[in-house]
Amino acid sequence: MELLKGKKGIITGALNDKSIAWKVAERAIAEGAEIILTNTELSLRMGTLNDFAEKHGCKLIAADATSIEDLGVLVDGAMEHFGGPFDFVLHSIGMSPNVRKGRPYEALDYNFLGKTLDISALSFHKLLHTLYTKDALKEWGSVVALTYIAAERSFVGYNDMADAKALLQSIARSFGAIYGPARHVRINTVSQSPTATTAGQGIAGMEDMLKYAERMSPLGNATADDCADYIVTLFSDYTRKVTMQNLYHDGGFSSVGLTAAEVASFPKQEND
Ligand SMILES: NC(=O)c1ccc[n+]([C@@H]2O[C@H](COP(=O)([O-])OP(=O)(O)OC[C@H]3O[C@@H](n4cnc5c(N)ncnc54)[C@H](O)[C@@H]3O)[C@@H](O)[C@H]2O)c1
Repeated sequence: MELLKGKKGIITGALNDKSIAWKVAERAIAEGAEIILTNTELSLRMGTLNDFAEKHGCKLIAADATSIEDLGVLVDGAMEHFGGPFDFVLHSIGMSPNVRKGRPYEALDYNFLGKTLDISALSFHKLLHTLYTKDALKEWGSVVALTYIAAERSFVGYNDMADAKALLQSIARSFGAIYGPARHVRINTVSQSPTATTAGQGIAGMEDMLKYAERMSPLGNATADDCADYIVTLFSDYTRKVTMQNLYHDGGFSSVGLTAAEVASFPKQEND
C-alpha cells in the first residue's frame, strides 16, 4: 500500500536512526512520499542525516527552527524543490538546557527556560507562521508535532519540557482554528510513549520511566517505529477531518489508573 503516493513534505528533527523523525522519514518514503529533511547545521555535522539523505536521494536544508530567517529559507527551498505548495510537515524538535545542565524545576535558570520554550514550542508557531504566510501547504495539508503526557500530568524529571509541551499543544489548537478555515490544513499533536532516543536519554530517570510506562500501558510502550506508522496515517487522506487534537499514541497509558503488571511489581510487605 502506498498511503502517501504523490505527497510531498518536510520532516524536521531526524538526528540519528534512534530519532522518531528518522523512522517517520523512512516510513513516509516507503509509503510513496517525497521528503525534504532539515535539522540545525550542528546536528547535520554531528549526526548521520547526510548518509540518510544520500541513500534515499532526499534534499537536505539546514535550519535552526528558532530562526524565522532560517525557516523562510527552508520553506522557500521546499517550494522551489517541490515546484509549489506541499502536503505535510513533521515538527519533531525538543531540547531543554535546564534538563541538560541538571537544573531542577524549583531552581530553573530563566535564560535556559526561555531557550527551552523557544526551541521546543515557539519554533512550532514560527514554522506554522512561515508556512501560513507563504501559503506553502496545499489544501487539506497536514502538520503534526510530537508531544508528551507531561504536558497534562506531572512527571518527575521532565522539568521545564512539561511547560514547553503544554504550550506546543496549545499552539496546535490556536493555529488549527486559523489554518482550518483558511486552507483546510489540519494541525495535531501526537503524545508518544517514552522512547529511547537522544532527546529521551537526557531526561532524568528515563530508564525507570520506560519501565513504569511499559507496566502501565495495556499494549506496552509504543516504539518509534509504531509512532511512524501512526504519523503517516495523519499525513494521509484518511484523516482529513482530524484537527486541533492531542492524539495519544501510548499503548493506552493515558487512560489507565492501575494495571495488574504494576500491582505485581509492588514489593511484598511482611504482614501482607
Ligand atoms: N523520546 C521520547 O521519550 C519522546 C516522547 C514523547 C515525545 N517526544 C518528542 O519527540 C520529538 C523528537 O525527539 P526524539 O525523541 O526523536 O529525539 P531526538 O534527539 O532524536 O530529536 C530531537 C531533535 O530536535 C532537534 N533540534 C534541537 N534544537 C533544534 C533547533 N533549534 N532547530 C531545529 N532542530 C532542533 C535535534 O537536532 C534533534 O534532531 C521531540 O519533540 C520530543 O520532545 C519524545
